[in-house]
Amino acid sequence: MSQPTRIYLDNAATSWPKPETVYQAVERYLRHCGAPAGRGAYREASEVEREVARCRRLLAELIAAEDPRQIVFTCNATDALNLALHGLLRPGDHVVTSVVEHNSVLRPLRFLEQQQGVQVTRVPCDQRGVVDPAAIERAVRPETRLIALIHASNVTGALQPVEQAGQIARRHGCLLLVDAAQTLGHMPVDVQQLGAHLLAAAGHKGLLGPLGLGFLYMAPGVEQVLQSVRQGGTGTHSDQDRQPDSQPDKFESGNLNVPAILGLAAGLEYLRDRGLERLHEHYQRLTARLLDGLRAIAGVRIHGPADPASQVGVVSVTVAGYDPRELAGLLDSAFAIQVRAGIQCAPLMHEALGTVHHGGTIRFSVGAFTSEREVDQAVEAMAELTAAQVG
Ligand SMILES: Cc1ncc(COP(=O)(O)O)c(C=O)c1O
Repeated sequence: MSQPTRIYLDNAATSWPKPETVYQAVERYLRHCGAPAGRGAYREASEVEREVARCRRLLAELIAAEDPRQIVFTCNATDALNLALHGLLRPGDHVVTSVVEHNSVLRPLRFLEQQQGVQVTRVPCDQRGVVDPAAIERAVRPETRLIALIHASNVTGALQPVEQAGQIARRHGCLLLVDAAQTLGHMPVDVQQLGAHLLAAAGHKGLLGPLGLGFLYMAPGVEQVLQSVRQGGTGTHSDQDRQPDSQPDKFESGNLNVPAILGLAAGLEYLRDRGLERLHEHYQRLTARLLDGLRAIAGVRIHGPADPASQVGVVSVTVAGYDPRELAGLLDSAFAIQVRAGIQCAPLMHEALGTVHHGGTIRFSVGAFTSEREVDQAVEAMAELTAAQVG
């Protein structure tokens, strides 16, 4: 029996497939170049240095950063968020965050709270999984150093009031850290318009690069108050045994993940050529189709805004009488449809949604190459499986 074609709907974890040019860029580098960045005077090393600078420029253009040097490469979004939180917060500082956050913000903050005397307020969300900006403002205190807010939930896809949080941060003289892991590549994002002092994201999700890469944007001046959390070789000022203060070297110790950076540059060029507005429409169209299809199935409950204008291409559901992991297993084994089931690294979000005791949700997340046909097949499979359960 032939295998059914794989339908990958776990793009919120990491995107797949990638544009053809991403595969080519990684292969070309590995086969024909292989030199490190910033550590040699020979031809290939200089070429890699130019290519890394090009990727930094493309990222700066993507988010309207003031200068490419304000972008620091990290291992992933988690690493970028850790750099922002550990680099900035000191004993006695207060942070306002939300229950919507991913563990990549919740866990560093819990650690800083327990180990270093940082104070943390976690504001709630409503039934759609959206935070009220007034609750953020009420939580701010004189000693508040930072507001840390997710741009869109990785559980429900719900967009959060990040721009209002930026205004609150300005009014109260604190900084705003945005976790944009689920929004970059899905919609236009402008750090200056958001009022973000720090923005963390992955290169391997909506930006279509390989795994093992993320970045942190820091607004001009923030690099001076942020401490490096890792020190080491940068290929610059090698005659000194102290970490350089210059950007981005201060935060980029050790060899960079050059294959992933070159792949990401190809992904960013793909996004630029396809157009972010057009991609945003693609995501909204698929999300609307998915929501309409799932809404029509008896026993399926959608968690989150259930409105394509208020979310990214991430949809979470529960099905009466089904354990999410069991249903996800059946979707894969019977239909080769691959989704994420469980708590999706967002325990407080599931507590707020009331889904934590049911083992979380089943999460569908569409990608840049997902087709309407694939969405329809996923909806048909869900209808078939839930009908079998009811019958
Ligand atoms: C909202 C959000 N933040 C952070 C992360 C962590 O991303 P990474 O795997 O690149 O560390 C994820 C990944 O799922 C996410 O969805």
